[in-house]
Amino acid sequence: MKILVTGSNGLVGSYVVQQLLEEGHQVFATSRTDDRSAFKNPRYRFVQMDFTDPYALDAAFEAIQPDVVVHSGAMSKPDDCETDQQEAYKINTVGTVQLLLNAAACESFFIFLSTDFVFNGKEGMHKESDPADPISYYGRTKLEAEEAVQEYGYPWAIVRTVFVYGKPLYGRDCFVTMIAKKLRNQEPYKVVNDQERTPTYAGDLAKGIAAIIEKKVTGIFHLCGADVLSPYGMAMKAAAYLGMEAPLLEPVATASLKALARRPLKSGLDISRAKEVLGYAPLSFSEGLAKTLGN
Ligand SMILES: NC(=O)c1ccc[n+]([C@@H]2O[C@H](COP(=O)([O-])OP(=O)(O)OC[C@H]3O[C@@H](n4cnc5c(N)ncnc54)[C@H](OP(=O)(O)O)[C@@H]3O)[C@@H](O)[C@H]2O)c1
Repeated sequence: MKILVTGSNGLVGSYVVQQLLEEGHQVFATSRTDDRSAFKNPRYRFVQMDFTDPYALDAAFEAIQPDVVVHSGAMSKPDDCETDQQEAYKINTVGTVQLLLNAAACESFFIFLSTDFVFNGKEGMHKESDPADPISYYGRTKLEAEEAVQEYGYPWAIVRTVFVYGKPLYGRDCFVTMIAKKLRNQEPYKVVNDQERTPTYAGDLAKGIAAIIEKKVTGIFHLCGADVLSPYGMAMKAAAYLGMEAPLLEPVATASLKALARRPLKSGLDISRAKEVLGYAPLSFSEGLAKTLGN
């Protein structure tokens, strides 16, 4: 199949591109800046494209005519979204609507990457059908984009994921590799210990998205890990995996960090539907750590 992936320079997009190439698809990777990958596959093409530019989208969709769109590109940092709300709305919400308009002209299957931050984090372990109630601007822009996806006239899927980690295929560190660097450099670092997450190994997420494409199933899917951990718990497990003491990692409460964006405290997601419909079987956090920090 011809698959257009946005956000291919990002953590999630890079794993999605790799997985889809492994499965024999023709992949059109797109990002706002130049290609950071080293894929040498003949089925791989890179198109530099700002998806908030309707003319760039028209040209790309006319040339590619994708069977499937995996929309992973976003302003993904909650604090950035809080600081520059106009840009966050333009990229996360308006950009998604633009992509939907172009995808409709090709009758593409549209898969949208969303987030646990659409929930308020009071209850935790949310199911797909639970009511959303974002408490950050990032969460609001993603929820509004979800609502637009649900109006799409052709098949669609929304994939909500949580705290993604994995060895960077190219580009910037994830939380786990960033913590490993801080430990090796003996840098002091504060990590929150009162937020619950179900961290997601990027390779599992990419396999789950590939399964959605293969099975052509639609609707909302929660794709994340099964283990519930705080960021501090994740960091301590990374230290243990590396056989290091971590006296300079300081556990702190969310309230003390004074971050710009509010974060849901309990934001793990329930993956029962993905297990049942997709055969989704994520690695444990320990297994994911070995893939991320091992050779
Ligand atoms: N990472 C997580 O923990 C997490 C958790 C929950 C949900 N998600 C969702 O998963 C998706 C992927 O996240 P990620 O961590 O992979 O993000 P990321 O590493 O920040 O990558 C974002 C990507 O989006 C591209 N992009 C941003 N604005 C663009 C624009 N206007 N036009 C074209 N491309 C644009 C960037 O391109 P350039 O790099 O070339 O600028 C980059 O490739 C997002 O939708 C995010 O909301 C992520």
